[in-house]
Amino acid sequence: MAQLWGGRFQGEISELAWKFNASIYFDQRLLAQDVQGSKAHVTMLAKQGIITEEEKDSIIDGLTSIQEDVNSGKLQITDKYEDIHSFIEANLIDRIGDAGKKMHTGRSRNDQVALDMRLYIREEVINTSELVYELLKVLNKLMKEHINTYMPGFTHLQKAQPVTLAHHLGAYFEMFKRDSRRLCDIHQRMNFCPLGAGALAGTTYPLDRHFVAEQLGFYGPTFNSMDSVSDRDYLIEFLSALSLIMMHLSRFSEEIIIWNSNEYNFVTIDDAYSTGSSIMPQKKNPDIAELVRGKTGRVYGDLNSLLVTMKGLPLAYNKDMQEDKEVSFDAIDTTKNCLALFTDMLATMKFNKEQMAKSAIRGFTDATDAADYLVNKGVPFRDAHGIIGRIVLYCIDKGIGIADLKLSELKEFAKEFDEDIYDAISLKTCVEKRLTFGAPGPEAMKKVIAACDEFLDLYWTKCHSPLYPDLHEAD
Ligand code: ARG
Repeated sequence: MAQLWGGRFQGEISELAWKFNASIYFDQRLLAQDVQGSKAHVTMLAKQGIITEEEKDSIIDGLTSIQEDVNSGKLQITDKYEDIHSFIEANLIDRIGDAGKKMHTGRSRNDQVALDMRLYIREEVINTSELVYELLKVLNKLMKEHINTYMPGFTHLQKAQPVTLAHHLGAYFEMFKRDSRRLCDIHQRMNFCPLGAGALAGTTYPLDRHFVAEQLGFYGPTFNSMDSVSDRDYLIEFLSALSLIMMHLSRFSEEIIIWNSNEYNFVTIDDAYSTGSSIMPQKKNPDIAELVRGKTGRVYGDLNSLLVTMKGLPLAYNKDMQEDKEVSFDAIDTTKNCLALFTDMLATMKFNKEQMAKSAIRGFTDATDAADYLVNKGVPFRDAHGIIGRIVLYCIDKGIGIADLKLSELKEFAKEFDEDIYDAISLKTCVEKRLTFGAPGPEAMKKVIAACDEFLDLYWTKCHSPLYPDLHEAD
């Protein structure tokens, strides 16, 4: 047990308490960020004349060698140390001697860990956004391919009106587009540097916090030292954004599971993304989609856990906050995994167009259009609704669709029916006439797809780039 404190204590910490208190088991993930932050810190200390240039160079070389040795496996991270910060400091002192003892001048582990997590999360926000971008690209491609692929649109899981696959996928494009914008917002809000806040009240050394912030690519230093070491809002925002991504993936997965069922047979999932049964030879199960749906609960749990951890904490730092790491890492790993797998599954999935179109015809998806037909012939909408309702009842009884009725039969319900009714309620007409902006009609859809193309083209410069906060509103 190599502890960072000593003088104040007379006895040894119990082994159980040491292990309970330690975070090295999970914060070793922050090695690169801790080294990066320490290098920026000592560079500033030297610039301010708090340590010498030689001491700074020796610390930087020592930190580089520690990172290299851990990465190559030459140096093992063990639970002899409480956390990654003490592991690095102890190893540094071992390697370079007294200069190593100066690294922590003007710093506390409270602002150190706040910085490490910000650096780590800032990168993961971008990594997540990259994965959302890949998914948006696949959606966009599929939308272009399926402008004329008809399928039923549902409400209450009952067939409602015909749409196209492009339109259905377009709904998800919008959801993931908003997700990517949320990530961008978070990046912008969190991109301030907490280092220099000290334990909670800054420090009496003449630190140049602006210089450290600039070296590390932040917009600037944080404005309040107590807030700097206590703020976990950005993590909660990120976990909320991840929860929403998971919610969207989960709803999409649920639909794929339904579409993949024997009854629907709208899609065929590629063998690479399905599994079999140990007993039933005929089975090909949508396990990946089911697991994405299942793991959504886990990410919600991570978010909830952090919310509850934070709710009663007085300012400033409390050890409870150490609990932020495992849940954040879990939520990030889980969501990134799900995004990557889901995107590949979607990109390789086959859509059974004929089956979808057949299904779009059955189930009276043309009933609204039949009512609209009568409206165009001068029948008030409410009356038209009643007439078509009676026709539907009549058809259900006979086990047929509206278009299967002879004109003479239709005329018994309303004299306004004419030969052109069959064309007016054909699947093609029902879809093609839906031309309001945002509707499934192909001409309307093409305008939206052009906007999607533009969003993707400008993704890293305008739509998503945290470097251009004033250009944030792209559309
Ligand atoms: N492992 C700690 C954490 O993750 C580092 C900060 C420790 N600070 C302290 N005052 N004990 O929060």
